[in-house]
Amino acid sequence: MSTYVSGARPHSWAARLPKTIALTALLLIAAWFVYVYVFHYYLNYNPNGFGVFWARRGGLLIHISAGMVALLIGPWQFSRRLRQRHLGLHRLMGRVYLVAVACGSSAGLYLALTTPFGWAWGTGLAALALAWATTAGMAFYAIKQRQIQIHQEWMVRSYMVTFAFVTFRMLNDMGPTSRLQPDNDRAITFVWACWVIPLLAAEVVLQLRSIRSLTRLRRQTKLS
Ligand code: HEM
Repeated sequence: MSTYVSGARPHSWAARLPKTIALTALLLIAAWFVYVYVFHYYLNYNPNGFGVFWARRGGLLIHISAGMVALLIGPWQFSRRLRQRHLGLHRLMGRVYLVAVACGSSAGLYLALTTPFGWAWGTGLAALALAWATTAGMAFYAIKQRQIQIHQEWMVRSYMVTFAFVTFRMLNDMGPTSRLQPDNDRAITFVWACWVIPLLAAEVVLQLRSIRSLTRLRRQTKLS
C-alpha cells in the first residue's frame, strides 16, 4: 500500500477537473434530494404531513436532520484543497459528519425495526443502517490510528452508503426502473442494490489503485 501523505502530490487544474465535477454533481443531487424529500417534513409538522411516521416523528426528525447534515458535508471532505488549506475545518467537519452518521444510523435502525411495511423491507433498511455505522466507524478508527490512506478509503465507502438512500429514491421513483412491478419487490430489491452495487464498484477501483501502487513500489525497489 502506498504511503503518501494526504495532499503531498501536486495537482494541476486540469487533473483536478474530473473530481471537481463529480463532487459538484454529488452535492447538487444531494441538495435536490433534501429539497424534494426532506424539507416538506419541516414545513408540514402535522399528522397529515408525516403520514405513517407521525407516531415515530421524533425518530424520523432526528434521522432526516442528521442524514441531511451527513449528505451535504460529505463531498467537501474529499476536497484536497480544503484539507491542504484549512485542515482545522476539515477535522471539524469530519467530526460533525461522524456524529451525524451516528445519530442518523441509530434513528434509521429504530425506524427500520418499527416499520409498518414488512420484515423484508425492514431487514434491508436495518442492514443499510449497520453498513452506514460500520463504514463511518472504520474511517474514524483508521484516522485515530493515523492511517491516512486507509481513512480516505473508508470515507469513500462511508459516503457511498450515506448516499444510498438518494440512490434508492432515484432507482425507485424515476425512469424505467420505477415501472418495475410489483411495487414491493422493486423497493426491496433496490433497498439492497442502492448500496451493495456502489460499494462493489468502489472496492474494485480502490483495490486496483492499491495493486498498481504496490506493483510500482516493487519495481522501484528492484531497480534501486
Ligand atoms: C444510509 C442509511 C440510511 C438508512 C439505513 C435509512 C433508514 C430509513 C428508514 C428505516 C426509514 C423509514 C422507512 C419506513 O418506515 O418505511 C427512512 C426514511 C427516510 N429517510 Fe432514511 N435512511 C438512511 C439514509 C438517509 C439519508 C442520508 C437521508 C437524508 C436526509 C434520509 C432521509 C429519509 C427520509 C426523508 C425518510 C422519509 C421517508 C421517505 O421519504 O422515503 N435517509 N430512512
